[in-house]
Amino acid sequence: MNTPRTFSPRNPWFVSSLLLTLVIAVTSALFGFVLLPQMQANARYTGIWDAICSAAGLVQAAPASDPVMQTSYQTTQVMVTQQMLPHAGAEAIGRGATLALRCTNCHGARGLSQAESPNLAGQYSAVIYKQLLDYKSGARVSAVMTPLVADLADTDMRELAAYYAYLPRLPPYHPASAGPAPVIVVGGAPMRNIAPCGSCHGAMGNKAGAAWLDGQPASYIKAQLRAFATDTRRNDISEQMRNVARNMTAADIDASARYYANQP
Ligand code: HEC
Ligand code: HEC
Repeated sequence: MNTPRTFSPRNPWFVSSLLLTLVIAVTSALFGFVLLPQMQANARYTGIWDAICSAAGLVQAAPASDPVMQTSYQTTQVMVTQQMLPHAGAEAIGRGATLALRCTNCHGARGLSQAESPNLAGQYSAVIYKQLLDYKSGARVSAVMTPLVADLADTDMRELAAYYAYLPRLPPYHPASAGPAPVIVVGGAPMRNIAPCGSCHGAMGNKAGAAWLDGQPASYIKAQLRAFATDTRRNDISEQMRNVARNMTAADIDASARYYANQP
């Protein structure tokens, strides 16, 4: 008896399973790429090809009739990376020191403020540079700082950042007598979606752009947290700090400010 070869057009089983597979493939492609996208409630496609591209995950340009949402306020234009300001040379630091003469009234002769302004000594240079750029663009608003940065050029800001980052910072001081570090700093508040402050601000890790907080005046830390919580300060990239601050209680704010501000 002569059985037909498996993969042969003369084998009816082979032909019918091939056809069945094709039918399934075509139906599912039609269903997945054309029908389902068209059925989406709030998607508008200009044609079948548009729907297919969208289902395949290609980025779509927003239709002209539907402009991208814009904020009514200035947001930060700065992208912070760990490599943003590579090691500054002595020359840049020296020029920064000269430029910094007009900052000493408030930020102190060596970057340590006696006037409840934030300390800048030993602050990450990328943080200083970003904040100066944000004051200049209007993304961060301060009646005091905004006019002071108006005439600073980009290189001035880089050199100021290099100079202040080079100055020795206050050593962290968390005496045992002050009790253990507050829970919000070391453990966050998972139920309120708050990561530990320390995971971004030092101690356990540093996120690019997050400031060194040890030794900052408590009044400054509190003011910034309240400003983030109430949307008065909104220059944090992707609302990282606003999302934290909005969920903090007054007690959290007090405890973390006291902890970071602690100085001998
Ligand atoms: C009249 C006082 C005063 C002078 C002068 C001054 N600053 Fe400030 N600076 C402040 C105050 C107050 C703040 C906090 C403002 C806020 O709440 O946004 C600040 C904030 C900053 C910050 C943000 C710090 C942070 O941790 O986010 C930077 C950076 C800074 N100043 C740099 C400078 C530089 C550079 C100069 C000199 C060109 C300067 N400042 C001059 C008072 C001053
Ligand atoms: C997900 C990371 C992250 C966590 C968690 C976080 N922060 Fe921040 N924080 C940032 C970043 C990033 C900035 C800088 C925002 C900007 O670009 O101006 C910032 C800014 C701040 C500032 C302003 C500093 C200055 O001088 O401008 C304060 C104060 C602050 N955070 C306090 C806290 C406290 C207290 C906690 C814990 C309850 C906390 N942060 C948790 C990322 C974080």
